[in-house]
Amino acid sequence: MNRIGIIGAMEEEVAMLKEQMKDVTVKEKAAMEFFHGTLNKKEVVVVRSGIGKVNAGICVQILADDYQVDAVINTGIAGSLKAEINIGDIVLSTDTMYHDMDATEFGYPIGQVPRMDVHAFPADETLRKLAKTACEKVNPEISVFEGRVVSGDQFVADKALKNQIIERTNGWCTEMEGTAVGQAAHLNKIPYLIIRAISDKADDSAQVDYPTFERQAILHSVKLVEELLLML
Ligand code: ADE
Repeated sequence: MNRIGIIGAMEEEVAMLKEQMKDVTVKEKAAMEFFHGTLNKKEVVVVRSGIGKVNAGICVQILADDYQVDAVINTGIAGSLKAEINIGDIVLSTDTMYHDMDATEFGYPIGQVPRMDVHAFPADETLRKLAKTACEKVNPEISVFEGRVVSGDQFVADKALKNQIIERTNGWCTEMEGTAVGQAAHLNKIPYLIIRAISDKADDSAQVDYPTFERQAILHSVKLVEELLLML
């Protein structure tokens, strides 16, 4: 893996990574700034995609077409869907699945884009194992989980909705980009990993917890990515 694309949905999620890059050239496309250079001696392209599935999908396609990246890492925050996954903890994707794609009327399982080959997009196992080791080294005070990351164009802050998503997807955390990254990576045959630090519990407390814990959660995923790059 020579050249790694690193996507964060929000500026806060990529700002610290960009600050530490060397030999940077910046190009703009689709209202996104692509920072191409090195980070911890590894060639990277760091970019803020913007929020939501379409922005994330477009971003991966540009990384594939214009930069021929060998892997895509999507770092950021998410709401927990499991009682044992606490605020500040990390979830590494085993796979990704949409919670808001519903063509069950035509016999497709929840999450499956009609006429596609899979209902969940498998993430890269090698990247995941390395990321786990990196996380245990730099974030020893928190727990790191490996499980399904689910996505939809919805900030989940309601217990009933949260329970419905859990029942439909068996997801471990919910956010708004990871599956679009997974789908675009799958279509382009590029290995990918979603790294999510938990900022809230995706229930009625999410509105309060999210702004309180956003910074701490972002710090955990940034530290993990920096360490992971040393291993690739
Ligand atoms: N990102 C962080 N928390 C989230 C939530 N509860 N729902 C969707 N995206 C999120």
